[in-house]
Amino acid sequence: MKILVFFGKPGAGKGTQAALLKEHYNLVHISTGDLFRYNIKNKTPLGILAQSYIDGGDLVPDQVTIDMLEAEVQKNPNAAGFIFDGFPRTQAQAEALDIFLAKQNLNISATVALEASDDVLVERLLKRGETSGRSDDQDEVKIRNRFEEYKQKTAPLKSYYQQQNKFHSVDGIGTLEEISERLTQLIDSI
Ligand code: AP5
Ligand code: MG
Repeated sequence: MKILVFFGKPGAGKGTQAALLKEHYNLVHISTGDLFRYNIKNKTPLGILAQSYIDGGDLVPDQVTIDMLEAEVQKNPNAAGFIFDGFPRTQAQAEALDIFLAKQNLNISATVALEASDDVLVERLLKRGETSGRSDDQDEVKIRNRFEEYKQKTAPLKSYYQQQNKFHSVDGIGTLEEISERLTQLIDSI
């Protein structure tokens, strides 16, 4: 089973590329950010809990996020594989995911980081913020806080996956098609 983790700073293109590639590889795309936004929109208890964290650009607590991700995987028992977009984002999440998958005799095939500079990403997110309605895209202070969360809590996962020989980087600047092509070349070689 192919299990891919799309990794990268806010705005790097994880969601965009996962949406483009999921059909090509027949994978189920799970975005923890999209799941939180769905719950916020529907005012579920999970959404109410997550809202203040997301609004400020902070990560939602680990156990809440891990439980949500595991439940979503279990809703897809016949999946040929998964793209996890925006999960794991902390060491605790990465360890929980490995344990959860191992219980089902599964493991991550590869972690792929989309790379782009902060200035390009701020520009992309502010532009999207004009129309997306996403609270965390609305001003540069929140966007920079998302980068800071990434730097402190998520970036250290690079060495976690390097130790497992599963970390790959892809240039995230270019047209959507160029980036998809880079990703498919890499994924096909794994
Ligand atoms: P999440 O929804 O995961 O957001 P994010 O990672 O901060 O950022 P984005 O989704 O904006 O980035 P992306 O890489 O998907 O880029 P996209 O394709 O959208 O998380 C939101 C929040 O939820 C977190 O802050 C946290 O509070 C919470 N959360 C989620 N997961 C969590 C977890 N595991 N643990 C704890 N908390 C969690 O593209 C961005 C924009 O750029 C779009 O407008 C797109 O059209 C454009 N674009 C994409 N590619 C290109 C390109 N090549 N050229 C030009 N523009 C492009
Ligand atoms: Mg996204």
